[in-house]
Amino acid sequence: MIIQILSLFPEMFYGPFQNSILKRAQELKLVEFRLINFRDFTLDKHRMVDDIPYGGGSGMVLKPEPIYRGLQFAKETKPEAKVVLLTPQGQTFKQQTAEQLAAAEHIILICGHYEGFDERIRSWADLELSIGDYVLTGGELAAMAISDAVVRLIPGVLGSDESAQKDSFAGNLLDYPQYTRPAEFEGLCVPEVLLSGHHARIEAWRREQAILRTALRRPDLLAGAALTEREKQFLRQELDLKI
Ligand SMILES: C[S@@+](CC[C@H](N)C(=O)[O-])C[C@H]1O[C@@H](n2cnc3c(N)ncnc32)[C@H](O)[C@@H]1O
Repeated sequence: MIIQILSLFPEMFYGPFQNSILKRAQELKLVEFRLINFRDFTLDKHRMVDDIPYGGGSGMVLKPEPIYRGLQFAKETKPEAKVVLLTPQGQTFKQQTAEQLAAAEHIILICGHYEGFDERIRSWADLELSIGDYVLTGGELAAMAISDAVVRLIPGVLGSDESAQKDSFAGNLLDYPQYTRPAEFEGLCVPEVLLSGHHARIEAWRREQAILRTALRRPDLLAGAALTEREKQFLRQELDLKI
C-alpha cells in the first residue's frame, strides 16, 4: 500500500513513522509513506499557501492551487487513488473505516491547517474524515492516527493476524480483560478460569466478558454484534444483577 500525505509540516511525521509497527511495516515493504509538502507547489515568490477569507473574518484559509497541484502530483502514478480530506466536519473515523481503507492500494491524505480549506478543495476528495468531535491545529495528528489504524490491519504487518481480529471494535465488541503475571498483586487476583489451563472455558469466559464489557461501556455497539440466543440470555442475567 502507498499512503501519500499532503501536509505543510512533513517533519512532524518522522517520529511516529519511524517507530514500532509503522517502522516494521515499511521495512517489510507492506506500506510506503510519501510525504508531500504542498508549499512546494506554490508558484509565487513568497510561496503562499493561505490567504484571507473572502467576506472577512479572522484567520487564514488554505488556497486551492497548491493543494490541487500537489494532488495532481500525488495521483500521477495512480489516478484512482482514494483521496481523503481530514476535517472535523467529516464522518467520524471508525474501525470499519480503517478496514475499508486497509483494502485500498493507494490512499492520499490531505492535512489542513489555519482556519481550514477553501471550500472548493472538498470537491477533489472521495471521503472527508474526522478523528473525533474536537478541533486540532492541523490534520497531521489525524493523518498519523488514521495511518496507524489502517496499516496495522494490512495482512502480515502484525506478528499474529489474530491480534487485530480480537482488538476492540472488531465484530462490534470491545476487547476482553487481559491479565499477565503475577497471579496476585496488591490483593488483586487474576480470575481463576485464566489459571485453569482449560482452553475452551477460557475462550467462553473471554467472549462473555467482551460482551458484558461492551454492554456496560459501549451499548451503542452491541446492536451490530452477532450474539447467539444463549449470549443474549447471559447478558440479560448479568445486567439484571448489575443494575
Ligand atoms: C484549526 S482546524 C480548522 C477547523 C475549521 N475552522 C472548522 O471548524 O471546521 C485546521 C485543520 O486541522 C484538521 N483537523 C482539525 N480537527 C480535526 C479533526 N477532529 N479530525 C480531522 N482533522 C482535523 C483539518 O485538516 C483542519 O482543516
